[in-house]
Amino acid sequence: VDLSGIINLFDFEKMAEGKMTKMAYEYVASGAADEFTVRWNRQALDTLKLNPNVLNDVSTLDTSVTLFGHKLPYPILVAPTAFHKIMHPEGELATARGASKAEAIYVVSSFTTTPLEEIKKVASEPLWFQLYVRDDKEFTKNLVQKAESIGCRALCITVDTPVGGARNRQARVNFKLPEGVNAPYANGEMIQKMPLTWKEMEWLISFAKVPVLLKGILHPDDAEKAIQIGASGIIVSNHSGRNLDTVPATIEVLPRIVERVNKRIPILMDGGIRRGTDVLKAIALGANAVLVGKPICFGLASGGAEGVTKTLEILRAEFEMAMALTGRSTIASIDKSLIWK
Ligand code: FNR
Repeated sequence: VDLSGIINLFDFEKMAEGKMTKMAYEYVASGAADEFTVRWNRQALDTLKLNPNVLNDVSTLDTSVTLFGHKLPYPILVAPTAFHKIMHPEGELATARGASKAEAIYVVSSFTTTPLEEIKKVASEPLWFQLYVRDDKEFTKNLVQKAESIGCRALCITVDTPVGGARNRQARVNFKLPEGVNAPYANGEMIQKMPLTWKEMEWLISFAKVPVLLKGILHPDDAEKAIQIGASGIIVSNHSGRNLDTVPATIEVLPRIVERVNKRIPILMDGGIRRGTDVLKAIALGANAVLVGKPICFGLASGGAEGVTKTLEILRAEFEMAMALTGRSTIASIDKSLIWK
């Protein structure tokens, strides 16, 4: 594929729209209900202004961060997104190859359309695993242990999806997996209805051998509870506006969570990250790292592994530019004072 015309992440979305089936595009691009939160995620990031310093030595940049003992060359991870085979025939294998080439951690969705063992074979960078906890404890425990035995370095338990959202655009295209594509760990269920409470989370954390992050935290009280039950990290996320419409942008929520958590555990954030300056803003407001969802799907749909790599490389390069242009040569030097008040 010729990706030479792709300059930024929005270019990938346009290209992907032309390549994907309407059903797949609607699945990836849509949010819940009136999509207020989808728009707010972007608007809130766009509205924040930067307050740069000049004449700091930015001739060498150190963009690395350490999460759970593992050093990442830059603070961007691949968010878990479902059903990659509807986006590209090579599905999750292409995502894994592409993320590895860009030196990024890939968080595999529990709605992967490729078995974990196969993904592991092609990944040269660490994998994490995202889990939708099911009512079946046996199934859940087996899946956690499978992910651990394959070598997944952390588990992200998605806590913002007790039921699916009002996915109107998906309903209009009558979204379903095409013939021949299946999600081995979804057990045929497309919409989750799972009795997942703090009690089940404690149970899960009690036997997990790798760090457990709760994904989908928006309330400071829930961040506090997550720490109390022994979570190793949290992901501030509104599921890209796909579940509950009219919750605030994650970048708006982030400072309150950061304040409450007070550096006790790492905080990751996702939702609307499309520019290097967005990554910078999230870190300035206290995130340890960010994840990207839709851009990876569009990169994958546009150019398979190469598209995924290029998506991450563009974002990484923009982030480095943003650091240099704001006078910040290390992640630690990216603080709140970078945001214009
Ligand atoms: C998602 N997301 C998601 N989250 C999760 O925990 N398990 C999943 O299987 C999925 N599937 C999924 C599919 C698609 C197509 C999208 C766009 C998103 C949410 C995802 O992990 C992440 O929270 C958001 O995508 C981040 O926001 P942006 O970067 O997409 O704006």
